[in-house]
Amino acid sequence: MKFKIQWYDRLPSTNTFLKERLALEPELPSGTVVATREQTQGRGRRGRDWLSAANENLTFSILLRGGYEPRWLPSATMAAAIAVADLLGAEGVKADLKWPNDVLVNGKKICGILSEGIPGGIIIGIGLNVNMADAGEIDQPATSLLIETGARRNMDQLLERLLSILSIRIEEWAEGGFSRVRKKWEANVPTLGKTVTVRDGDAERTGQLAGFGDDGELLLRVEGGEVIPVWAGDLSV
Ligand code: BTN
Repeated sequence: MKFKIQWYDRLPSTNTFLKERLALEPELPSGTVVATREQTQGRGRRGRDWLSAANENLTFSILLRGGYEPRWLPSATMAAAIAVADLLGAEGVKADLKWPNDVLVNGKKICGILSEGIPGGIIIGIGLNVNMADAGEIDQPATSLLIETGARRNMDQLLERLLSILSIRIEEWAEGGFSRVRKKWEANVPTLGKTVTVRDGDAERTGQLAGFGDDGELLLRVEGGEVIPVWAGDLSV
């Protein structure tokens, strides 16, 4: 798939901006990428904020057009996360995937992904910490490529590299759904087979992470051996 990048100096949120653009330009093509040097009101999963220092991190959103059913949404995020992990591997950093949408390095978050359904498509928003020297801790420990490797990256080049990997993963996913990328996802999930807890609001379930279903849902083996699908929640070990 081909991407066309539009860079902006400052936007509140690339996901929101892309939605607003679509309302004005309904013919905006699939593969449109909106990237910003500074994001002032970044949005995370579950209504959380996504904080990102100006000029130091990649914050961008991709428009994917297609008749995707809502059940495709979680695995769009997962396909994108695999691509980010591949990129990090190529940059010399071993990355782990944490269901449903985190990329971690040494247990610290380096990337978050927020996919949103729109009429006739999906917007995938990606925030990757790149040149942040002090990632601190927001709602969980965070890190960046600079912290992990000691080297700064050129943001434009890194985005180009990430998009070329993303194009392969997204095509695989668009053709065959999560099943096509499941092996790659599971290969980067260190918690597979381990005892995990999934919290969704007040509901909490503990069991063995047995794998992932055809739409990317987490499969939890609970006491008694029954395997139940879990569609949403925060995972902890
Ligand atoms: C999360 O981990 O909760 C998801 C974070 C997603 C952040 C990205 S940054 C680019 C895009 N625009 C947004 O407002 N959010 C996503």
